[in-house]
Amino acid sequence: MAIQVVILAAGVGKRMFSNLPKVLHLLAGKPLLSHVVQTALTLSAEKPPIVVIGHQGEKIREVFSGHSLKWVEQKEQLGTGHALLQALPMIDEQDDVLVLYGDVPLVSLTTLQNLIETTQKNALGMITARLPNPFGYGRIKRDKNHKVVGIIEEKDTTEAERTISEVNSGICFLSAKWLQKWLPVIENHNVQKEYYLTDVFRQAASEGVAIYTVQPPNIEEIFGVNDCVQLAYLERYYQKEMANKWMRQGVTLHDPERIDIRGDVKMGRDVVIDVNVILEGNIIIGNGCTIASNTILRNTELGNQVVVHPHSVIDGAKIADHCVIGPFARIRPETVLADRVHVGNFVEIKKSQIGQSSKINHLSYIGDSEVGKEVNIGAGTITCNYDGVNKHKTTIGDNASIGSDTMLIAPVTVGEGATIGAGSVISENAPPNQLTLSRTRQVTVEGWKRK
Ligand code: UD1
Ligand code: CA
Repeated sequence: MAIQVVILAAGVGKRMFSNLPKVLHLLAGKPLLSHVVQTALTLSAEKPPIVVIGHQGEKIREVFSGHSLKWVEQKEQLGTGHALLQALPMIDEQDDVLVLYGDVPLVSLTTLQNLIETTQKNALGMITARLPNPFGYGRIKRDKNHKVVGIIEEKDTTEAERTISEVNSGICFLSAKWLQKWLPVIENHNVQKEYYLTDVFRQAASEGVAIYTVQPPNIEEIFGVNDCVQLAYLERYYQKEMANKWMRQGVTLHDPERIDIRGDVKMGRDVVIDVNVILEGNIIIGNGCTIASNTILRNTELGNQVVVHPHSVIDGAKIADHCVIGPFARIRPETVLADRVHVGNFVEIKKSQIGQSSKINHLSYIGDSEVGKEVNIGAGTITCNYDGVNKHKTTIGDNASIGSDTMLIAPVTVGEGATIGAGSVISENAPPNQLTLSRTRQVTVEGWKRK
């Protein structure tokens, strides 16, 4: 006997008014369904979760192609009960089934474990919550003894039932044999003409089968996303939780409401982050780093004591200790900066290695380059790496000094300790330890007069 997770994700998501299937809309940078899949995989490592898809199912499968999941198609979206019925043939008769919803992304592992432990053998369990505004959710009906007798959908409620504040999360736990017994016989005699999974609970209650309920510590755990307003609400909730988590681990956030974390982040001690910083993808930030306002880091690793000045965008880079970056720097994928590199304002670096203590402080483009140690690159230097068809490499040796406004026409090598005169167009290799320049001599025209 094992736990079989089934995730319902076939719905159209009408209220999103979107061409994208609802469960692919992003929360904290990941599809809604991805949050649920992650939770499911952690919960039941031994059995791949079953995902019920329908509307744009192919698109959904593509996004999750790397995961160990089983897919079931629900050809017509006839309701949650009908959706689960499609998965039934794939479920082992001995198993207990945990039903998750693709549009309820933030339910925690702890709450699910609580549900599983609380639900006694041969009983049914579900997660419920009391909401200040229960509108839209199915309401839990209880009898005088507080026993659950059924779930009634918003659209089917009477005025009195609408005042019930305890709602159904949709998430439930029950043995496969109950589903085999009741799922095939539920009917669609309701306002939406749908086969409701919730009817299984009414059936269970009427046959005297026990129903257990558990509540999450935070009601947001059971919030579903049906429209963009709910999506934005959950995004803010998630971001607040993330900010609190990092502040509790010693990160200084100048304003916890103005940071967005959309991925997996690791941060060291004494990190200080100013307002409007976005961290995306896989991020590692070492000890003592300072990240100034309006900066975006994506799939990037910062060593220790790195300073990032405002308005910088760093994507796919590895940045070693004591580097100073920005303001207004753009560092693109496959860039590696060694210790103590300085990259200043309006500098773009792409796919380049920059050696220890080198400086590129103003208005430059460095692409497909290998730059040695202690190199100084003057303002306005451009590596002309693209000939219109192919990209070429620029190599600059240790201690070289590149004068301002230099064009380095790749492929080209500047030797160690070379000096390039300002304003040069360097199309051939420059030898080490010598001055190379390519510019016409300045002339003053004697006796010239303005017209
Ligand atoms: C459902 C519950 C409601 C609960 C709420 C919590 C039912 C009948 N109602 O209502 O009690 O309070 O969730 O969020 O179960 N889906 C399918 N196939 C379908 C229909 C839906 O796979 O034919 C999937 C959807 O993709 C979604 C989930 O099931 O992930 C819930 O469907 P939705 O239509 O959003 O149900 P609610 O009206 O929110
Ligand atoms: Ca829903």
